[in-house]
Amino acid sequence: MTGRRILVTGARGMLGQDLVPYLEQKGHQVLAVDLKELDITKSEAVQSFFTTQRPQIVIHGAAYTAVDKAESDAATAYLVNGYGTQNIAVACKAVDAAMVYISTDYVFNGTQQQPYLPLDPTAPLGVYGRSKLMGEWAVQGILERYFIVRTSWLYGQHGKNFVDTMIHLAQTQEELKVVADQKGSPTWTMTLAGALEQLIQTDQYGIHHCSDEGTCTWFDFAQEILRQKGLTTPVRPVTSAEFIRPAPRPQYSLLDKSSLHNLGIPLADWRESLSQYLAEATPCAD
Ligand SMILES: NC(=O)c1ccc[n+]([C@@H]2O[C@H](COP(=O)([O-])OP(=O)(O)OC[C@H]3O[C@@H](n4cnc5c(N)ncnc54)[C@H](OP(=O)(O)O)[C@@H]3O)[C@@H](O)[C@H]2O)c1
Repeated sequence: MTGRRILVTGARGMLGQDLVPYLEQKGHQVLAVDLKELDITKSEAVQSFFTTQRPQIVIHGAAYTAVDKAESDAATAYLVNGYGTQNIAVACKAVDAAMVYISTDYVFNGTQQQPYLPLDPTAPLGVYGRSKLMGEWAVQGILERYFIVRTSWLYGQHGKNFVDTMIHLAQTQEELKVVADQKGSPTWTMTLAGALEQLIQTDQYGIHHCSDEGTCTWFDFAQEILRQKGLTTPVRPVTSAEFIRPAPRPQYSLLDKSSLHNLGIPLADWRESLSQYLAEATPCAD
């Protein structure tokens, strides 16, 4: 079931800029929009865009993603991630499009000691996670044909990301201090793009978890980035308590990916994805 008419929101974001060409290369007809073309918080504009363009599938990646800023700008986060997502879901219903909503490990509080299942209780620690959860609820309440795809620790060529930041810091500082008490799974945007392209060809609607395989702390991740880049700058482990940020992060956010495994959707080991990213990308130092 290839060659679908797919609308991608957030097309100029980090995920969007990798996802759009990937879908096109797979033979899909892609309508790529971002804030400039379609503000998702404007319900009438969203409705009229959908009625004119009539997408068959919508991959909704547009979001307010400034996790720390959201703590002092909650109204905007809820507007974009909650109400904006509701607008997209209502418009999908009107044109009978299936919807993919990209969500996050931040819907969990991180107190669990085993990988989070899609139906494990959510309990976001901050505004960003709550706003993304509002989006999930809107999608679930409005649509039957939806995929909620939660991912974690995303990095890609076209956005400010942890990998490029570590490389830049290692090249400009004598020592890096990186949090060693938060565990999760890094995810390359291309892993997610590949999984999404396969998932939309199924009718396995509901909540799915998608990340690269394996687990590490931010400290492990930083060490591996520097090792693969041949950089010898020392990396010192620190605790979250030593590195206070406005938004608390879940200490443990491993996602159980059995639903994708059962569908035979391949996910790469996080170290292999990193290696491929470093080989292919032209990192932009932010
Ligand atoms: N990055 C991660 O680590 C991570 C982890 C888990 C889940 N996710 C989710 O994955 C998705 C993609 O993330 P990303 O890192 O690629 O995000 P991103 O780079 O911040 O891209 C999001 C895009 O949405 C646009 N946008 C913001 N407000 C909008 C509005 N009102 N109407 C239309 N577009 C709007 C942004 O435009 P402006 O830049 O002009 O504001 C931006 O181009 C998001 O849904 C995010 O919540 C990300």
